[in-house]
Amino acid sequence: MRTTRRVLLAVRTLIVFALFAGAVAAEYVRPPPRPIILTEHTEPASHPQQVHVSAVGANQMRVSWVTDDKHVQSVVEYGKVSGNYTASATGDHTSYRYFLYTSGKIHHVTIGPLEPGTVYYYRCGKAGNEFSLRTPPAALPIELAVAGDLGQTEWTASTLAHVSKTEYDMLLVPGDLSYADTQQPLWDTFGRFVQRHASRRPWMVTQGNHEVEAAPVPPLPGSPPPFSAYDARWRMPHQESGSASNLYYSFDAAGGAVHVAMLGSYAGFNSSSDQYRWLARDLAGVDRRATPWLVVLLHAPWYNTNAAHQGEGEAMRTAMERLLYEARVDVVFAGHVHAYERFTRVYNNEANPCGPVYITIGDGGNREGLALNFEKNHKLAPLSVMREASFGHGRLRVVNATAAHWAWDRNDDADSVVRDELWLESLAANAACAPQYGEPGSVDSPNDEL
Ligand SMILES: *[C@@H]1O[C@H](CO)[C@@H](O)[C@H](O)[C@H]1NC(C)=O
Ligand SMILES: *[C@@H]1O[C@H](CO)[C@@H](O)[C@H](O)[C@H]1NC(C)=O
Ligand SMILES: *[C@@H]1O[C@H](CO)[C@@H](O)[C@H](O)[C@H]1NC(C)=O
Repeated sequence: MRTTRRVLLAVRTLIVFALFAGAVAAEYVRPPPRPIILTEHTEPASHPQQVHVSAVGANQMRVSWVTDDKHVQSVVEYGKVSGNYTASATGDHTSYRYFLYTSGKIHHVTIGPLEPGTVYYYRCGKAGNEFSLRTPPAALPIELAVAGDLGQTEWTASTLAHVSKTEYDMLLVPGDLSYADTQQPLWDTFGRFVQRHASRRPWMVTQGNHEVEAAPVPPLPGSPPPFSAYDARWRMPHQESGSASNLYYSFDAAGGAVHVAMLGSYAGFNSSSDQYRWLARDLAGVDRRATPWLVVLLHAPWYNTNAAHQGEGEAMRTAMERLLYEARVDVVFAGHVHAYERFTRVYNNEANPCGPVYITIGDGGNREGLALNFEKNHKLAPLSVMREASFGHGRLRVVNATAAHWAWDRNDDADSVVRDELWLESLAANAACAPQYGEPGSVDSPNDEL
């Protein structure tokens, strides 16, 4: 096996050299997509699979998992010493049907209160292996890893392996998880594929177009509603953040020093939509003296110079950009375009020192491959600071109330190589950009929730 791989590698290298012989300094060769990894469940039906955790409020975590055995209880036992479970919590369960497919029993159990920055050992449904997780810190610094458009390929495995080698506290995913694309068993293989990582650190996700899984048009009788799989499997703390929909929500990290709003590119977003009203309320509720960092994630980028998905985020940008600008959001992460691109601070298509930094990071490793065509003459190109079509991940390390370090790592096969990095200053610390609440068109009053 190993020899065959070496030979293949040598052949590939030769081809690459041949292709670039004569070309000027081809320093890095864009890798092609790699095969999907189909992860099986080989344990008994009562044993947990697809275990993942997400943060709920200041000191709780939701443990989610699936069992094929419908009799397993939605209970999690946990404690700070391996094998010695000093607490337990009971939650609820759900399941869904998608035409001929019926999901396993999907359990969601919220555990806590938990101590910050602490390793907990836990067991799901009183069966199977023990897992462990580390809770996020209750104060800065905190490290937020970011990777979009994941899928379940060898490249995804490489990206997640690189993330797991860092000291990250949470993973933020700006949409496109499994690429099941209506083939429901691929949601199960994805859940198993990510379990090793997603059972250890909270994964906070929002939806992409691959999560919609709309039924055929016109709908057949008994057609499943959109987001059936996503909503059942990836329940996020929307109720806890005053949102009526799992498609958009927010949460605080590092004891409230960082507020993260996860938006829905595929939910209504115009000014009469529920999402818009929720976001206006949510942002108005952020006191930037206590919360110096404001981060937003969404799927379809508002700023993009890649030929792929041109203009697809435009309607949402037109509807919502002002809300983000007036709240002085520091960074907006998007996915969708399978490449990396970082803009300078922007508002309304122009450089603006009080606007967010826009970063596209839809290069987690999915089966569709990379978006290679950045447009040199795109009207936004002068605002685009760094762009590269490579698989990889990013990390936002929020150091203190004024400084955060951003790094984007590209996957150079087995290695992770930093390709872009910069220090960010919080807009809350920038006197010239003091957040402007209560302006016309933003929100009624910053205090309407209090
Ligand atoms: C389990 O933890 C409890 C509470 O910390 C402790 O009293 C007990 O001795 C532990 N048991 C074992 C077997 O370690
Ligand atoms: C907002 O979107 C909804 C559908 O989500 C639509 O029915 C409504 O007409 C839109 N309103 C405006 C002002 O565009
Ligand atoms: C915040 O961190 C940055 C980077 O390490 C440092 O230069 C700065 O002095 C720190 N600010 C405060 C107020 O500690």
